[in-house]
Amino acid sequence: MAKSQIKKRIALLTAGGDAPGLNGIIEASCRSLLMAGYEIVGICDGFEGIYEGRTKPINFETLRGLHSQAGTYLGSSNRATVRKREKEFVQKYKALGVRGLLVAGGDGTFNSLSLVAKDIPLIGVPKTIDNDLSGTEVTFGFDTACSVVSEAVDALRATADAHKRVIIVEAMGRTSGWIALGGGLASYADAILIPERPYNKKKLLEFLRFKQNQGVRGVLVVVSEGARAQGEKSKIAFSVKDSPESIRYGGVAQGLARWIENEIDWESRHVVLGHLQRARHPTTTDCFLTLAMGVEVARLVQKDKWGYAAVYREGRVTKAPIGDLMKPSRLVDPNHRWVKLAQSLQIFI
Ligand code: F6P
Repeated sequence: MAKSQIKKRIALLTAGGDAPGLNGIIEASCRSLLMAGYEIVGICDGFEGIYEGRTKPINFETLRGLHSQAGTYLGSSNRATVRKREKEFVQKYKALGVRGLLVAGGDGTFNSLSLVAKDIPLIGVPKTIDNDLSGTEVTFGFDTACSVVSEAVDALRATADAHKRVIIVEAMGRTSGWIALGGGLASYADAILIPERPYNKKKLLEFLRFKQNQGVRGVLVVVSEGARAQGEKSKIAFSVKDSPESIRYGGVAQGLARWIENEIDWESRHVVLGHLQRARHPTTTDCFLTLAMGVEVARLVQKDKWGYAAVYREGRVTKAPIGDLMKPSRLVDPNHRWVKLAQSLQIFI
């Protein structure tokens, strides 16, 4: 392929667990680039598509209205990795005949790609519902995940009150409590348990007994999947071979429900929201964020700013070196202002 043709041909892939808004990134970035005369090669299923040479056409027709849909038009995978297959990855990438690669992914994705960064020009978009990526103050999909949690808590309050039960709602988030905190606050949950603030079991029981003595009928507790009691470990459900982040958390809500029932004789149930937090069409806030991030990455491509990512800082979308996304996770500060908000409302945290 002639050099001039390659200059205006780029590849795009989405990798890692899906997040509401991925399709918005695809629609906004590709629409801008198509208008600027670029050709886009859509890579299917994250890194898998590179290894297997599977691509999908992207044109104005395929993009129309995509932003409002959950999932990703291109498919994704959080299993395939670059490690130990670097040479093959670069070879297969080169066969695409493109100027560079646009990637929406999490820290696992970018750490993996750092192994081939000297051979592959990259532009990134940070992606995770967990909201814990470094380098950006917010990630798309987080707002939608919080909405799922808060709507669930608001709905469950009716049945908790009807049956005089404690209902424990388990939120995603791995080692970070952003989703439990955001969703729990928005729904005025009675207690919010996050990994960054291991809870004191005695104090939690005291809090529940206090509610019981007040004659409260139902109590809603939001617990992050990685949360744990002081001196205990997070509950690991299973691990996924080949995944850059192999551990999968789970079981904390069920354990808490049984423990509460035994300790204070208050009937308890648990609800695991799981992948529903990723399966919802994006909120307006997430659509707006992905629109701005998509346009920003298209701008970076046109300016040949490889090695950068679109990030959100100080109230606006801007660019930052991709390396900023690979730093340690951005966890909730145990004294974060949102924690203080919870405390002002006498929410147990
Ligand atoms: O990192 C995003 C996330 O949704 C976590 O909150 C969750 O623990 C994990 O991915 C689930 O991964 P999988 O899709 O492999 O079950």
